[in-house]
Amino acid sequence: MAGAKKLFIKTYGCQMNVYDSERMAEAMGASGYVEASSPDDADMILLNTCHIREKAAEKVYSELGRFKPLKAAKPDLKIGVAGCVAQAEGEEIMRRQPMVDLVVGPQSYHRLPAMEARVRSGAKALDTDFPAEDKFDVLNTRPKARRGPTAFLTVQEGCDKFCAFCVVPYTRGAEVSRPATKVLAEARDLVERGVREITLLGQNVNAYHGDGPDGVWSLARLIRALAEIDGLDRIRFTTSHPNDMSDDLIAAHGDCEKLMPYLHLPVQSGSDRILKLMNRKHTAEAYLRLIERIRAARPDILISGDFIVGFPGETEADFNDTMALVESVRYGQCYSFKYSPRPGTPAAERDLVDPEQASDRLARLQALLTQQQREIQDAMVGRTVKVLFERAGRLPGQMAGKSDHLHAVHVAAPEVSAGDLCTVRITESAPNSLAGQLVAA
Ligand code: SAH
Ligand code: SF4
Ligand code: F3S
Repeated sequence: MAGAKKLFIKTYGCQMNVYDSERMAEAMGASGYVEASSPDDADMILLNTCHIREKAAEKVYSELGRFKPLKAAKPDLKIGVAGCVAQAEGEEIMRRQPMVDLVVGPQSYHRLPAMEARVRSGAKALDTDFPAEDKFDVLNTRPKARRGPTAFLTVQEGCDKFCAFCVVPYTRGAEVSRPATKVLAEARDLVERGVREITLLGQNVNAYHGDGPDGVWSLARLIRALAEIDGLDRIRFTTSHPNDMSDDLIAAHGDCEKLMPYLHLPVQSGSDRILKLMNRKHTAEAYLRLIERIRAARPDILISGDFIVGFPGETEADFNDTMALVESVRYGQCYSFKYSPRPGTPAAERDLVDPEQASDRLARLQALLTQQQREIQDAMVGRTVKVLFERAGRLPGQMAGKSDHLHAVHVAAPEVSAGDLCTVRITESAPNSLAGQLVAA
């Protein structure tokens, strides 16, 4: 497009931010923006930010600092902050960094084009409302471009759980589910554009309860309807809360072929005392029983999780309970974090665990998780798996993709294209990926 303005978006945080960045780019397309490949040739830079831990939030300010020379050289350049830091800090961002022109929260991005017009006229624009209109209905004037083989699709947003450490209920607001018909229409559109695997997103995705044509649909009902779309081969969902893992969803893992054998089910701690202080509303035992039921439905399912160590009040005995829980679950993939106090959350008022002790526990936990992850990955060697290829690998002639269990797999197969779903025999296991050979279909 000749003379089109260029937008550069940098995305931090979770998959939902990746999805939101795509929607923001579409909304700005309606104002004549195309995407810039680097901040250097952009007319507008948007940082889509994350507030989950202090480090993530502080990154925004150092990144903004780096744009100073760009803005000095190009006074027309507009700089915006979107996402969860925008929601949590609002106007404070413009006070700390006056070169920011625009601050937009995660629930207001459909208003971006109007905000852009305001900042073009030299004003500042701030919107951190939780408006009633549907932000997912952004005006998309971009041509229906081909897409890569995998896509995210937000079906549920927000959280009513209020874990004592977490900012999400404040930055994303109350739990809301999108109507099933809109989700299905968006999924069909994605498939028409080349998508073969969809990951349904929500902060508590398994609490999904969207309006369907015949009453309220659960996530399992939605997955079964999506599974009927021709051309859609794989369905995943993330992130789930143990208390919302319903029987029909467990059953779907057993009998819905397109639902992949991978479940991200964070538990955060293995100590009942800490779980209570975290306001998680489940015990370690209840989580272990749940994992047993899920594995009874789908024995080869790969379980992934999240852990927080050094939560206020955590003793060595509590931490040992976490290690014991990890030993009995055997995780195929895991994320673990040192507790970070977040302003406005209940736990931020409490006394911190000694930081060195917390770091030491994190190192011990991560060593165990890495070992489990590696063992489960190594056990794939010799097996035959399906791989959806996504892109060229690092070496010439190599293609890379993901297995059903979400392992990264690369294969020397120049004849394969992105979007091909192939059978592969796994021959090798490296620290973070598998290698294999194409099996003739
Ligand atoms: N909705 C998801 C995940 C939310 S945030 C869930 O309920 O599990 C992703 C992960 O970040 C959390 O699972 C938790 O492990 C971690 N996290 C959240 N707040 C944190 C904090 N204050 N300090 C350290 N880790 C945190
Ligand atoms: Fe945060 Fe807890 Fe909600 Fe997950 S369930 S988003 S950790 S408050
Ligand atoms: Fe971060 Fe917001 Fe996602 S705080 S993890 S970007 S919901």
